[in-house]
Amino acid sequence: MKIELEDKKVFFENQGLKKEIHPFWLRERVAGDSFVDKKTQQRLFDPTELNEKIEIDTLNLSKSYLEITFKDGVHTKLAIQNILKEFSNINDVKHIEKIKWDSSLKNLNIFEFKNKIFEEEEMYKALISFYKYGFVIFKKVPTQNNFIVNFANSIGSIRRTNFGEFFNVKSKPNPNDLAYTSLPLAPHTDNPYRNPVPCIQLLHCIENEVNGGLSTLVDGFTVTEKLKEDFRDYYKILTEIKVRFQFIDQSIVLEDWSEMIQLDELGKFKQVRFSPRLDFVPLMDKDKLELFYSARKKISELYNSDLFRIEFKLQPGDLLMMDNHRLLHGRTTYNANEGKRFLQGCYIDYDSTEGKLKHLKRKFNL
Ligand SMILES: [Fe+2]
Repeated sequence: MKIELEDKKVFFENQGLKKEIHPFWLRERVAGDSFVDKKTQQRLFDPTELNEKIEIDTLNLSKSYLEITFKDGVHTKLAIQNILKEFSNINDVKHIEKIKWDSSLKNLNIFEFKNKIFEEEEMYKALISFYKYGFVIFKKVPTQNNFIVNFANSIGSIRRTNFGEFFNVKSKPNPNDLAYTSLPLAPHTDNPYRNPVPCIQLLHCIENEVNGGLSTLVDGFTVTEKLKEDFRDYYKILTEIKVRFQFIDQSIVLEDWSEMIQLDELGKFKQVRFSPRLDFVPLMDKDKLELFYSARKKISELYNSDLFRIEFKLQPGDLLMMDNHRLLHGRTTYNANEGKRFLQGCYIDYDSTEGKLKHLKRKFNL
Protein backbone atom coordinates (compact mmCIF):
# COMPACT_ATOMS: atom_id res chain seq x y z
CA MET A 1 0.00 0.00 0.00
CA LYS A 2 1.34 3.43 -0.85
CA ILE A 3 0.40 6.99 -1.71
CA GLU A 4 1.42 8.56 -5.04
CA LEU A 5 1.00 12.03 -6.56
CA GLU A 6 0.23 12.99 -10.13
CA ASP A 7 -1.01 16.35 -11.54
CA LYS A 8 -2.28 17.76 -8.26
CA LYS A 9 -4.06 14.50 -7.56
CA VAL A 10 -3.44 11.96 -4.80
CA PHE A 11 -3.53 8.25 -5.61
CA PHE A 12 -3.71 5.21 -3.41
CA GLU A 13 -1.97 2.14 -4.74
CA ASN A 14 -2.68 -1.36 -3.40
CA GLN A 15 -1.61 -4.65 -5.02
CA GLY A 16 -1.29 -3.11 -8.47
CA LEU A 17 -4.63 -1.28 -8.20
CA LYS A 18 -4.34 2.49 -8.36
CA LYS A 19 -7.25 4.75 -7.44
CA GLU A 20 -7.56 8.49 -7.01
CA ILE A 21 -8.44 9.72 -3.54
CA HIS A 22 -11.24 12.28 -3.71
CA PRO A 23 -9.91 15.75 -2.69
CA PHE A 24 -12.90 16.22 -0.40
CA TRP A 25 -11.98 13.00 1.46
CA LEU A 26 -8.61 14.59 2.20
CA ARG A 27 -10.13 18.00 2.99
CA GLU A 28 -12.40 16.38 5.61
CA ARG A 29 -9.33 14.94 7.29
CA VAL A 30 -7.32 18.12 7.71
CA ALA A 31 -5.24 17.91 10.86
CA GLY A 32 -4.23 20.55 13.36
CA ASP A 33 -5.61 22.21 16.46
CA SER A 34 -7.83 24.66 14.60
CA PHE A 35 -9.61 21.85 12.72
CA VAL A 36 -9.71 18.88 15.11
CA ASP A 37 -10.27 18.74 18.87
CA LYS A 38 -7.17 17.13 20.37
CA LYS A 39 -8.96 15.12 23.04
CA THR A 40 -12.00 13.80 21.23
CA GLN A 41 -10.57 13.74 17.70
CA GLN A 42 -13.85 15.31 16.60
CA ARG A 43 -13.95 17.92 13.87
CA LEU A 44 -14.20 21.57 14.85
CA PHE A 45 -15.82 22.33 11.49
CA ASP A 46 -18.88 21.00 9.69
CA PRO A 47 -17.85 19.45 6.35
CA THR A 48 -21.41 19.68 5.00
CA GLU A 49 -20.93 23.45 4.90
CA LEU A 50 -17.93 23.17 2.57
CA ASN A 51 -18.03 23.23 -1.21
CA GLU A 52 -17.85 19.57 -2.24
CA LYS A 53 -16.07 20.50 -5.47
CA ILE A 54 -13.01 21.49 -3.48
CA GLU A 55 -9.71 21.39 -5.41
CA ILE A 56 -6.09 20.89 -4.47
CA ASP A 57 -3.70 23.79 -5.06
CA THR A 58 -0.32 22.36 -4.07
CA LEU A 59 0.92 18.94 -2.96
CA ASN A 60 4.08 17.64 -1.39
CA LEU A 61 4.82 14.06 -0.40
CA SER A 62 7.63 13.09 1.96
CA LYS A 63 8.37 9.76 3.62
CA SER A 64 5.96 10.26 6.50
CA TYR A 65 3.71 13.15 5.52
CA LEU A 66 1.44 14.38 2.78
CA GLU A 67 1.25 18.18 2.71
CA ILE A 68 -1.71 19.74 0.95
CA THR A 69 -2.89 23.27 0.31
CA PHE A 70 -6.49 23.37 -0.85
CA LYS A 71 -7.87 26.09 -3.09
CA ASP A 72 -9.92 27.45 -0.17
CA GLY A 73 -6.58 28.37 1.42
CA VAL A 74 -6.49 25.61 4.03
CA HIS A 75 -3.11 23.97 4.49
CA THR A 76 -2.60 20.63 6.24
CA LYS A 77 0.02 17.99 6.95
CA LEU A 78 -1.41 14.48 7.06
CA ALA A 79 0.50 11.50 8.44
CA ILE A 80 0.77 8.86 5.69
CA GLN A 81 0.36 6.15 8.32
CA ASN A 82 -3.06 7.53 9.28
CA ILE A 83 -4.23 7.57 5.68
CA LEU A 84 -3.06 4.00 5.06
CA LYS A 85 -4.75 2.84 8.27
CA GLU A 86 -8.09 3.84 6.83
CA PHE A 87 -7.59 1.49 3.90
CA SER A 88 -6.81 -1.51 6.04
CA ASN A 89 -9.29 -3.64 7.97
CA ILE A 90 -6.71 -4.67 10.53
CA ASN A 91 -8.62 -2.87 13.28
CA ASP A 92 -11.88 -4.55 12.46
CA VAL A 93 -12.90 -7.45 14.70
CA LYS A 94 -14.05 -9.21 11.54
CA HIS A 95 -10.33 -9.56 10.90
CA ILE A 96 -10.07 -11.96 13.85
CA GLU A 97 -10.56 -15.36 12.31
CA LYS A 98 -13.10 -17.64 13.97
CA ILE A 99 -11.74 -20.99 15.07
CA LYS A 100 -14.20 -23.83 14.51
CA TRP A 101 -14.50 -26.26 17.40
CA ASP A 102 -16.48 -29.35 18.35
CA SER A 103 -16.77 -31.74 21.31
CA SER A 104 -13.02 -32.47 21.17
CA LEU A 105 -12.24 -28.93 22.35
CA LYS A 106 -10.14 -29.10 25.51
CA ASN A 107 -9.24 -25.43 25.88
CA LEU A 108 -12.03 -23.71 27.77
CA ASN A 109 -10.42 -20.26 27.34
CA ILE A 110 -10.00 -19.74 31.05
CA PHE A 111 -8.85 -16.42 32.46
CA GLU A 112 -8.48 -15.41 36.07
CA PHE A 113 -10.41 -12.41 37.27
CA LYS A 114 -8.57 -9.59 39.04
CA ASN A 115 -10.05 -6.28 40.12
CA LYS A 116 -8.08 -4.32 37.55
CA ILE A 117 -8.41 -6.84 34.70
CA PHE A 118 -10.62 -4.53 32.65
CA GLU A 119 -7.67 -2.20 32.08
CA GLU A 120 -5.03 -4.91 31.70
CA GLU A 121 -3.52 -6.65 28.71
CA GLU A 122 -5.03 -9.88 30.03
CA MET A 123 -8.48 -8.56 29.14
CA TYR A 124 -7.30 -7.89 25.60
CA LYS A 125 -6.21 -11.54 25.36
CA ALA A 126 -9.54 -12.68 26.77
CA LEU A 127 -11.46 -10.62 24.22
CA ILE A 128 -9.35 -11.96 21.34
CA SER A 129 -10.15 -15.51 22.57
CA PHE A 130 -13.80 -14.55 22.77
CA TYR A 131 -13.83 -13.48 19.12
CA LYS A 132 -11.92 -16.61 18.06
CA TYR A 133 -13.91 -19.21 19.98
CA GLY A 134 -17.15 -17.40 20.79
CA PHE A 135 -16.71 -17.82 24.54
CA VAL A 136 -14.39 -17.35 27.50
CA ILE A 137 -14.63 -18.25 31.17
CA PHE A 138 -13.41 -15.97 33.94
CA LYS A 139 -12.55 -17.71 37.23
CA LYS A 140 -12.66 -16.27 40.76
CA VAL A 141 -15.19 -13.55 39.96
CA PRO A 142 -16.55 -12.31 43.33
CA THR A 143 -19.81 -14.11 44.08
CA GLN A 144 -21.50 -11.22 45.80
CA ASN A 145 -25.01 -10.66 44.55
CA ASN A 146 -25.32 -8.57 41.35
CA PHE A 147 -21.56 -8.39 40.77
CA ILE A 148 -22.38 -9.31 37.20
CA VAL A 149 -23.73 -5.80 36.69
CA ASN A 150 -20.34 -4.32 37.68
CA PHE A 151 -18.58 -6.85 35.47
CA ALA A 152 -20.72 -6.09 32.40
CA ASN A 153 -20.52 -2.34 32.88
CA SER A 154 -16.74 -2.53 33.19
CA ILE A 155 -16.53 -3.91 29.65
CA GLY A 156 -19.22 -1.68 28.17
CA SER A 157 -22.87 -1.13 29.00
CA ILE A 158 -25.42 -3.65 30.08
CA ARG A 159 -28.13 -4.36 27.52
CA ARG A 160 -31.35 -4.31 29.49
CA THR A 161 -34.25 -6.55 28.38
CA ASN A 162 -37.75 -7.22 29.65
CA PHE A 163 -36.14 -9.83 31.95
CA GLY A 164 -34.55 -6.85 33.68
CA GLU A 165 -31.05 -5.43 33.90
CA PHE A 166 -29.93 -8.91 34.89
CA PHE A 167 -31.78 -12.15 35.59
CA ASN A 168 -31.52 -14.88 38.20
CA VAL A 169 -31.36 -18.44 36.93
CA LYS A 170 -32.78 -20.82 39.51
CA SER A 171 -35.89 -22.91 39.59
CA LYS A 172 -38.84 -20.86 40.74
CA PRO A 173 -42.60 -21.30 40.93
CA ASN A 174 -44.76 -20.20 37.95
CA PRO A 175 -41.80 -19.55 35.63
CA ASN A 176 -42.35 -17.46 32.46
CA ASP A 177 -39.46 -19.30 30.77
CA LEU A 178 -38.17 -22.89 30.92
CA ALA A 179 -34.79 -21.51 32.01
CA TYR A 180 -36.33 -21.00 35.46
CA THR A 181 -37.05 -24.70 36.02
CA SER A 182 -34.75 -27.66 36.72
CA LEU A 183 -35.62 -29.22 33.34
CA PRO A 184 -32.82 -29.89 30.85
CA LEU A 185 -32.36 -27.13 28.29
CA ALA A 186 -31.43 -28.23 24.79
CA PRO A 187 -28.94 -26.04 22.92
CA HIS A 188 -30.56 -22.75 21.95
CA THR A 189 -29.78 -19.12 21.36
CA ASP A 190 -31.35 -16.53 23.63
CA ASN A 191 -33.98 -13.97 22.67
CA PRO A 192 -34.24 -14.76 18.94
CA TYR A 193 -37.52 -12.79 18.98
CA ARG A 194 -35.80 -9.55 19.89
CA ASN A 195 -34.63 -6.91 17.44
CA PRO A 196 -31.70 -6.62 17.69
CA VAL A 197 -30.93 -9.94 19.37
CA PRO A 198 -28.64 -9.37 22.41
CA CYS A 199 -25.13 -10.11 21.20
CA ILE A 200 -23.34 -11.51 24.23
CA GLN A 201 -24.60 -13.32 27.28
CA LEU A 202 -22.76 -13.26 30.60
CA LEU A 203 -23.61 -16.01 33.07
CA HIS A 204 -22.15 -15.86 36.56
CA CYS A 205 -22.30 -18.88 38.86
CA ILE A 206 -23.00 -17.87 42.46
CA GLU A 207 -23.89 -21.28 43.91
CA ASN A 208 -23.85 -24.76 42.44
CA GLU A 209 -24.37 -27.63 44.87
CA VAL A 210 -26.12 -30.06 42.53
CA ASN A 211 -24.50 -32.93 40.64
CA GLY A 212 -26.22 -32.28 37.32
CA GLY A 213 -26.94 -28.90 35.80
CA LEU A 214 -23.86 -28.97 33.58
CA SER A 215 -23.52 -26.06 31.18
CA THR A 216 -23.43 -26.99 27.52
CA LEU A 217 -22.11 -25.07 24.52
CA VAL A 218 -22.24 -25.75 20.78
CA ASP A 219 -20.46 -23.77 18.09
CA GLY A 220 -23.18 -22.70 15.64
CA PHE A 221 -20.47 -21.65 13.20
CA THR A 222 -18.99 -25.18 13.07
CA VAL A 223 -22.43 -26.75 12.68
CA THR A 224 -23.38 -24.29 9.93
CA GLU A 225 -20.20 -25.10 8.02
CA LYS A 226 -20.90 -28.82 8.42
CA LEU A 227 -24.43 -28.37 7.10
CA LYS A 228 -23.11 -26.35 4.17
CA GLU A 229 -20.66 -29.13 3.28
CA ASP A 230 -22.89 -32.18 3.72
CA PHE A 231 -26.46 -30.93 3.23
CA ARG A 232 -26.35 -28.08 0.75
CA ASP A 233 -30.13 -27.93 0.18
CA TYR A 234 -30.80 -27.74 3.90
CA TYR A 235 -28.20 -25.04 4.35
CA LYS A 236 -29.71 -23.07 1.50
CA ILE A 237 -33.28 -23.11 2.74
CA LEU A 238 -32.29 -22.22 6.31
CA THR A 239 -30.40 -19.20 5.00
CA GLU A 240 -33.38 -18.11 2.90
CA ILE A 241 -36.61 -18.58 4.83
CA LYS A 242 -37.45 -15.96 7.41
CA VAL A 243 -39.08 -17.50 10.44
CA ARG A 244 -41.17 -15.68 13.05
CA PHE A 245 -39.72 -15.95 16.54
CA GLN A 246 -42.11 -15.03 19.30
CA PHE A 247 -42.17 -14.42 23.03
CA ILE A 248 -45.36 -13.72 24.93
CA ASP A 249 -45.99 -13.06 28.59
CA GLN A 250 -48.39 -10.97 30.67
CA SER A 251 -46.85 -7.64 29.78
CA ILE A 252 -45.27 -7.91 26.33
CA VAL A 253 -45.46 -9.53 22.89
CA LEU A 254 -42.10 -9.69 21.13
CA GLU A 255 -41.75 -10.88 17.54
CA ASP A 256 -39.00 -10.84 14.97
CA TRP A 257 -38.59 -12.44 11.56
CA SER A 258 -35.24 -13.88 10.61
CA GLU A 259 -33.46 -16.73 8.86
CA MET A 260 -32.24 -19.48 11.19
CA ILE A 261 -28.83 -19.06 9.58
CA GLN A 262 -28.20 -15.46 8.69
CA LEU A 263 -25.44 -14.56 6.24
CA ASP A 264 -23.69 -11.23 5.80
CA GLU A 265 -23.53 -9.15 2.62
CA LEU A 266 -20.65 -11.35 1.37
CA GLY A 267 -22.61 -14.56 1.95
CA LYS A 268 -20.55 -15.46 5.00
CA PHE A 269 -21.75 -16.65 8.40
CA LYS A 270 -23.27 -13.86 10.46
CA GLN A 271 -25.66 -15.27 13.04
CA VAL A 272 -27.66 -18.33 14.01
CA ARG A 273 -30.96 -18.34 15.85
CA PHE A 274 -32.33 -21.54 17.25
CA SER A 275 -35.12 -21.99 19.73
CA PRO A 276 -37.53 -24.61 18.40
CA ARG A 277 -40.21 -23.94 21.01
CA LEU A 278 -40.90 -20.45 19.78
CA ASP A 279 -40.28 -20.38 16.01
CA PHE A 280 -43.08 -20.25 13.45
CA VAL A 281 -42.39 -20.81 9.78
CA PRO A 282 -44.73 -18.96 7.37
CA LEU A 283 -47.23 -20.93 5.33
CA MET A 284 -45.49 -21.86 2.07
CA ASP A 285 -45.87 -24.46 -0.70
CA LYS A 286 -46.02 -27.97 0.70
CA ASP A 287 -42.80 -29.03 -1.07
CA LYS A 288 -40.90 -26.08 0.28
CA LEU A 289 -42.20 -26.67 3.79
CA GLU A 290 -41.21 -30.33 3.53
CA LEU A 291 -37.65 -29.29 2.72
CA PHE A 292 -37.67 -26.70 5.50
CA TYR A 293 -38.87 -29.20 8.12
CA SER A 294 -36.21 -31.74 7.07
CA ALA A 295 -33.58 -29.01 7.22
CA ARG A 296 -34.67 -27.84 10.67
CA LYS A 297 -34.70 -31.44 11.90
CA LYS A 298 -31.19 -32.01 10.57
CA ILE A 299 -29.72 -28.85 12.08
CA SER A 300 -31.41 -29.70 15.37
CA GLU A 301 -29.83 -33.17 15.26
CA LEU A 302 -26.43 -31.61 14.64
CA TYR A 303 -26.85 -29.01 17.41
CA ASN A 304 -27.90 -31.79 19.81
CA SER A 305 -25.26 -34.27 18.67
CA ASP A 306 -22.48 -35.42 21.01
CA LEU A 307 -20.04 -34.58 18.22
CA PHE A 308 -20.39 -30.84 18.67
CA ARG A 309 -21.38 -30.24 22.30
CA ILE A 310 -19.01 -29.47 25.16
CA GLU A 311 -20.20 -29.87 28.75
CA PHE A 312 -18.69 -28.48 31.90
CA LYS A 313 -19.75 -27.59 35.38
CA LEU A 314 -19.69 -23.94 36.34
CA GLN A 315 -18.24 -23.51 39.82
CA PRO A 316 -19.10 -20.64 42.15
CA GLY A 317 -17.11 -17.64 40.92
CA ASP A 318 -17.04 -18.77 37.28
CA LEU A 319 -18.35 -16.29 34.76
CA LEU A 320 -19.10 -17.56 31.26
CA MET A 321 -19.14 -14.97 28.50
CA MET A 322 -20.62 -16.30 25.26
CA ASP A 323 -21.50 -15.02 21.82
CA ASN A 324 -25.26 -15.36 21.48
CA HIS A 325 -25.11 -14.83 17.71
CA ARG A 326 -22.69 -17.69 17.21
CA LEU A 327 -22.96 -20.23 20.04
CA LEU A 328 -25.87 -22.22 21.37
CA HIS A 329 -26.06 -22.91 25.06
CA GLY A 330 -28.03 -25.18 27.32
CA ARG A 331 -27.77 -27.24 30.46
CA THR A 332 -28.31 -30.78 31.60
CA THR A 333 -31.06 -31.57 34.07
CA TYR A 334 -30.54 -31.44 37.81
CA ASN A 335 -32.31 -32.39 40.97
CA ALA A 336 -33.33 -29.23 42.82
CA ASN A 337 -33.56 -31.23 46.07
CA GLU A 338 -29.78 -31.87 46.06
CA GLY A 339 -28.96 -28.28 46.89
CA LYS A 340 -28.78 -24.79 45.55
CA ARG A 341 -28.04 -23.82 41.98
CA PHE A 342 -27.99 -20.11 41.41
CA LEU A 343 -26.67 -18.25 38.40
CA GLN A 344 -27.06 -14.63 37.36
CA GLY A 345 -27.08 -13.54 33.76
CA CYS A 346 -27.16 -10.40 31.66
CA TYR A 347 -26.42 -9.22 28.16
CA ILE A 348 -24.04 -6.80 26.53
CA ASP A 349 -23.68 -5.89 22.87
CA TYR A 350 -20.75 -6.16 20.47
CA ASP A 351 -20.03 -2.44 20.56
CA SER A 352 -18.96 -2.94 24.19
CA THR A 353 -16.45 -5.73 23.51
CA GLU A 354 -15.27 -4.17 20.28
CA GLY A 355 -14.80 -0.78 21.89
CA LYS A 356 -12.93 -2.30 24.83
CA LEU A 357 -10.73 -4.38 22.55
CA LYS A 358 -9.75 -1.35 20.47
CA HIS A 359 -9.13 0.72 23.60
CA LEU A 360 -6.79 -1.92 25.06
CA LYS A 361 -5.05 -2.32 21.71
CA ARG A 362 -4.41 1.41 21.65
CA LYS A 363 -3.39 1.50 25.33
CA PHE A 364 -0.81 -1.28 25.06
CA ASN A 365 0.26 -0.45 21.52
CA LEU A 366 -0.61 -3.95 20.31
FE1 LIG B 1 -30.69 -19.39 27.41
